[in-house]
Amino acid sequence: MGLIGICVRVTINFGGSVLVPDWPDFSWVRSAVNMIRELKARKHDVFVVVGGGKPARRYIEVGRNFGISENSLHKLGIDITRVNARLLSLALGDLSDPEPPLNFREAIQILLQGKVPVMGGTVPGHTTDAVAAMAARASNSDLLVYFTDVDGIYSADPKSDPSARKFDRITTQELLKLVGPKVTPGMNTVLDPVAVKLFERLNIRILVLGKEEISRFPDILGGKKHRGTEILR
Ligand code: UTP
Repeated sequence: MGLIGICVRVTINFGGSVLVPDWPDFSWVRSAVNMIRELKARKHDVFVVVGGGKPARRYIEVGRNFGISENSLHKLGIDITRVNARLLSLALGDLSDPEPPLNFREAIQILLQGKVPVMGGTVPGHTTDAVAAMAARASNSDLLVYFTDVDGIYSADPKSDPSARKFDRITTQELLKLVGPKVTPGMNTVLDPVAVKLFERLNIRILVLGKEEISRFPDILGGKKHRGTEILR
């Protein structure tokens, strides 16, 4: 489905699984940088949120073996998302700020300077999926996009269940049933339930796209079709 062919403000979440599948992946980070550069050249406003990927889950797993509290495990995850945010913001050079914002106030200041804020996590208890939903609201974005390592939202994990079916569209109610009620440190569902609840109050288009669509995204914004999932309220 095509999108609006004018300048828009867009919040983009890159799942850690995209930029940091095991370790930071040069070609995917470069793909994100090139796409953001193209969006800026086309005069769009861009707010970026980055996840923690496998390193975050690994830190949390080791910490959990020591009986560390859930709150502290979440904080470990936040630290890793912020390392990833720093990498992407530095890779963006002058387009971004070398100091990734730690909160939305700082992020909006960077956005108002015409630069691209790149944020990791904020406070314990949700994932960067929810941070992106909050960022979209704080920045008054027209569109919220999640890039993941699967090409949309499926009825089950397509990597382990061959009968999994991809949704072209899904409502937040259906999505809540899929993701379950609770956020645990390092959880691995397509989107976290805190984010899905925030979607219910966000009156903008929300898309989940595969990482293969990163390079096409400027054209998708310009009206070309995407192959992911649209989230409806
Ligand atoms: P991620 O945002 O990486 O989790 O946060 P994710 O979206 O499930 O995974 P990716 O994006 O595919 O990698 C990692 C962990 O950090 C903590 C949570 O425990 C989360 O599971 N976290 C993150 C917070 O507690 N608060 C935040 O704002 C962000």
